[in-house]
Amino acid sequence: MHILGIETSCDETAAAVLQDDRLVLSSIVSSQISIHQPFGGVVPELASRKHIEAIVPVVQQALQNAGLTADDIDAVAATEGPGLVGALLVGHTFAKAYAYARGIPFVGVDHLKGHINTVFLEPTPPPFPFISLLVSGGHTAIYHVRSHTEATLLGQTRDDAAGEAFDKVSKMLGLGYPGGRIIGEKARKGDPGRIHFKRPYLDKSAFDFSFSGLKTGVKRYIDRHRSDLERRVNDIAAAFQETVVDVLCHKLLAAADATGCRHVAIVGGVAANRRLREKIQEKAADAGLCLHIPSIHLCGDNAAMIAFTGFHYLKRGIRSDLSSDVYSRSMG
Ligand code: KG4
Ligand code: ZN
Repeated sequence: MHILGIETSCDETAAAVLQDDRLVLSSIVSSQISIHQPFGGVVPELASRKHIEAIVPVVQQALQNAGLTADDIDAVAATEGPGLVGALLVGHTFAKAYAYARGIPFVGVDHLKGHINTVFLEPTPPPFPFISLLVSGGHTAIYHVRSHTEATLLGQTRDDAAGEAFDKVSKMLGLGYPGGRIIGEKARKGDPGRIHFKRPYLDKSAFDFSFSGLKTGVKRYIDRHRSDLERRVNDIAAAFQETVVDVLCHKLLAAADATGCRHVAIVGGVAANRRLREKIQEKAADAGLCLHIPSIHLCGDNAAMIAFTGFHYLKRGIRSDLSSDVYSRSMG
C-alpha cells in the first residue's frame, strides 16, 4: 500500500510517501523560516498563504522522489490538528480533495500521535507499552503509549511548552527565530554553571511541567544585566537550556520508574537539542533504560510521521469523512 502523508500544522509544508508502515519512499519538508524570520516568529496568516503556494509543488516532488505517479497512491493522510487553523486547513483540504478526486480513502491524523510514532521510522523501535516525552513548540507532555493509535496522557505543561520557552528566551535575548536552534548554538559556547535558574520540578512525583516561572527568571536576570548583556548571552543560554534539560530528564525517568516501562522515547522539535540528547542518553543508561530518540530530521515537523500514523488508523478500519474538520487545540 502506498500512502501519501501531508503536514501543514505550522510553518513547514511537508509531504511524504510511505510503502506500508516501514519504507519511507520520499519525505519533503519545505520550511518557511526565511519568510517569518523578519517578524521574530511565525505569522499565522503568512504561513497559510505560503502553504497554499507550496502544497502542489511539495506533493509533486514527493511523488517524483518516490518514483510514483498519482495513480499509485492508495490512501491519503493529513494532519487534522492541533496547530494553526488556517495552516492546517490548507493541507487537510488539499488531502480531502485529492482523495475524493481519486476515489481513495482519506484519514485525518493527530499531529502529536504523529510525533510519538517517529520512533517507528527508525531501525529499532520500542516494544509497547513505552513512555514517550513529546517536546515541541506547542506541547510538552508525557504519554504511556500502548499502540500506534493509543496513548494515555500522564502529565503535561501547565503553561508554556518547552519549545515555546526556548523561542521566548531567544526573543528576549534579541536572537530571534527559530529560537530553539539559536539558543542551542549559543549555549554550546557558554558555561551552564555560571548562572543558576530555579528548576521547576513542581511536585517531584507528578508528571506536569511549568516553564513560565523559568522564563520570568531569565527575564529578570536579563533586566538586571542589560548594561553588559552581550558578554553574558552564551552563559544565559547555557544555564537556561541546562535547566530545561534537567527537568525534562527528571520527569521522563520518573515516569518510567512509576510505570515500570523499560523503554523511553523523546520526540518533537526540542528532541533535536544536542544537550538534551546527550544528557538523557547518560541518564537513561545509568537507570538501565532503553532510550529511543529519532534522527534529527524526524524530530521537527514532517509528513512521514503523518503517513505512518494514517496507515495504522486505516489498518484499524478508521477513515475520515470528507466533512471532517481541523482543530487548533490538543484533543487530550
Ligand atoms: O515539533 P516542532 O517542529 O513543531 C511543533 O509541533 O511545535 O517543534 C518546534 C519547536 C520550536 O519551539 C523550536 O524552537 C524547537 O522545537 N526546537 C529546538 C531545537 N530545534 C527546534 N529547541 C531546542 N533545541 C533545538 N535544537
Ligand atoms: Zn510538531
